[in-house]
Amino acid sequence: MDKSYYCPKLEKTLNFLPQEIKYCCSCATCPGVVIKDSKNLEKEKIIKTKKQLIEMFKNGIIPTKCRGCTEYREIKEENSNFIKKLIGFFYPKETKKISHLIMNHYKQCECKCIYCTEIINHNLKKQNYNALPLIKQLFEEKMIDKKNLTVEFQGGNVSLLTEFEDILEELSKNKCKNIIILTNGVQYLPAVEKYASKMNFRLCISLDSGTKETFNKIKRIDAFDKVIDNIKKFTSLQNVELTLKYITLNGINDNINEIKGFLNIVKETENKVAVAFDIDYRDTFLTPGDKFIAPEHYKELYKEVEEFCKENNILYTIQPQLKTVLKKGYYEQS
Ligand SMILES: C[S@@+](CC[C@H](N)C(=O)[O-])C[C@H]1O[C@@H](n2cnc3c(N)ncnc32)[C@H](O)[C@@H]1O
Ligand code: SF4
Ligand code: SF4
Repeated sequence: MDKSYYCPKLEKTLNFLPQEIKYCCSCATCPGVVIKDSKNLEKEKIIKTKKQLIEMFKNGIIPTKCRGCTEYREIKEENSNFIKKLIGFFYPKETKKISHLIMNHYKQCECKCIYCTEIINHNLKKQNYNALPLIKQLFEEKMIDKKNLTVEFQGGNVSLLTEFEDILEELSKNKCKNIIILTNGVQYLPAVEKYASKMNFRLCISLDSGTKETFNKIKRIDAFDKVIDNIKKFTSLQNVELTLKYITLNGINDNINEIKGFLNIVKETENKVAVAFDIDYRDTFLTPGDKFIAPEHYKELYKEVEEFCKENNILYTIQPQLKTVLKKGYYEQS
C-alpha cells in the first residue's frame, strides 16, 4: 500500500485569525483560507479546502504548508485498524465534524504587556470581521460536534470582543459546554456570569506579578487592584475554574519577593485557583545553534513555588518549555 497520512487537528479545528481562517494553530506556515470579504466568510471554500487537504494526506501527499509539522501521522497498513480505533476513541463518531473553535480574530486589548507578541508585531488593530455568522451557519448545517465542542477565546482581550456575549448565546442555544478564555482580567466579564449556570468556563488570567509596581511595569496599565478584585469575583462563580498565570521575565519578575506576592494572592482566594508558570516565549525564539541560558536562580524560585503549592494543596503546572529550562539550565532550538 502507498503511504497515507492523517492530521487530527486538521479534521477538528477552525482557528479564526484577523485576516484568515486556519485549520490548526496560528503559525504563519499553517494552511488556511484568506478572508476576502469580511461580510462573507466563504464557508464552502473553507470546508472544500479542508477536504482537499485531508484527501492529499490520505493519498500520501503532504501539503506544502504542513511540511515539517509534527502533528500529522502516517497510517501504516499493519496499524491502520488500530489508528482508526484510536481516532474513533478521541473523536467519537463525529470525526469529520468540528470540535475545536479558536477565537483569535480580535486583537484589541487594554494592556500593553512588554512581552506580548501581538504588541511587538503591532497586531492590536481593529477587528476586521465577526465570526458569529459563520459559527451559526456551521451549527445550522450540522458541521459541529456539539457534544465535544471546545471554544477557546485567545485574542486580544475578550472584554473588547463585541460579539462575545452573542457567541456565548449561540453556544448555549446549541448546548455546548466547554469554554476556555485567556484574559488579562482587567475587566469583569458579566457574560461569563450570565452563562456560568449553563456552561463550564476555564479562565486563565495572566497576572505575571505579585505586586502592583511590577504589574504596572509589565502590563503597562494601572489596573492591579481591579484585576485582584475580578479574580475574587470570578472565583465566587460556580462552573468557573480559574488559573493564574506567571510568565518568568528575566530581570523583571524573577525574584522571590514577586513570586511570594503572587503566591499570597493565590492563597487569598482560599486556594480556589490553579497556577501555571511559563517561560517568556521570546527566550525560546532562537535561531538553530543559539541557546537561552537560564539564570541559576530560576531553579530556587520554582523550588519555592513547588513547595508552597504542595503545602497548600494548590494545583500547579510548569509548562513544558520552562520545565526543560529548569531541568537542563538552558533552552535551545531542536
Ligand atoms: C496574546 S494573549 C491574549 C489573551 C489575553 N489578553 C491574556 O493576556 O491572557 C494569549 C496568551 O499568550 C500569552 N503570551 C503572550 N506573549 C507571551 C510571551 N512572550 N511568552 C509567554 N506567553 C505569552 C499570554 O500570557 C496569554 O496567556
Ligand atoms: S499537519 Fe500541522 S500544519 Fe498541517 S493542518 Fe495539521 S497541524 Fe496544521
Ligand atoms: S493582555 Fe494579553 S493581548 Fe493584551 S498585551 Fe497582554 S498578553 Fe497581549
